Amino acid sequence: MSLSLSRGKQLDVGHHGIAQDDLPPMEQGTLDPRDWFKPTDSPAQPDASANPPPGLRPIELEIGSGKGTFLAQHALLYPEVDFLGIEWAKAFWRYAADRARRRRFDNVRLLRCDADMFIRHYVPDSVFQQVHIYFPDPWPKKRHHKRRLVQADFLRQLHRVMIPAETNPAASAPGPAGGSSASPTVQVGEQVSTSPRIHIATDHADYFEWMQEHATQVTDLFDRLPFESPKSAGEGELVGTNFERKYRREGRIFQGMILRKRP
Ligand SMILES: C[S@@+](CC[C@H](N)C(=O)[O-])C[C@H]1O[C@@H](n2cnc3c(N)ncnc32)[C@H](O)[C@@H]1O
Repeated sequence: MSLSLSRGKQLDVGHHGIAQDDLPPMEQGTLDPRDWFKPTDSPAQPDASANPPPGLRPIELEIGSGKGTFLAQHALLYPEVDFLGIEWAKAFWRYAADRARRRRFDNVRLLRCDADMFIRHYVPDSVFQQVHIYFPDPWPKKRHHKRRLVQADFLRQLHRVMIPAETNPAASAPGPAGGSSASPTVQVGEQVSTSPRIHIATDHADYFEWMQEHATQVTDLFDRLPFESPKSAGEGELVGTNFERKYRREGRIFQGMILRKRP
């Protein structure tokens, strides 16, 4: 673990962190990540209609959560939504899970593993309401491009694990992570849109071009929309993650897109 992240403190992921070793063998079949949100040390909600039990609550996925800033912001803004972050780097995973534990976010879990492997081999169909991919590693060398996370085949997998668009009562309504026109101020507990969408942002021009090319290969599955900053983004920010805040000072250009699952 990186001491620069923990600053010498012992990090404790508690039940907010799920390690790769905690996953059952792949041969056992799919695993529903909504089960990870079942309360462990707090009693079940007496009024299920006020706060639906795990498995009935909307769940959103963030791939490459880093230090978990986006998850922390959104866990507070949308307490009625569950958020799963997948982070490969152990130091970041530990930091983000410890952060969620300390802040007692019952609606956040951090899984440490390769997101592609987990989604492809474990996640059943029709689980996630929204998917967030902010500043994925660009793999700039041509011979490494095949390692890029955002590519047509992976987008097809994400399409499979997202809820069906036809269950959506207001496909064009703004959701918790995007859309600012309907309501300029953030309301905790605000109604969540069920419009299933992938939100992607990058600071890498070549990767953005690649993303656009790959998005055109899946136009049968997704409509491409302009990026809409989540309500957690600060003044002048695209998303407001740690990565963006760090590199914004260098004057980097940030770009994004939204892929909305087609009915
Ligand atoms: C450039 S960082 C951005 C982190 C965060 N989203 C932010 O904006 O601050 C990319 C993150 O994605 C993680 N990552 C890269 N490939 C991954 C994969 N296949 N599965 C899970 N996490 C991955 C990296 O470990 C890293 O923390």
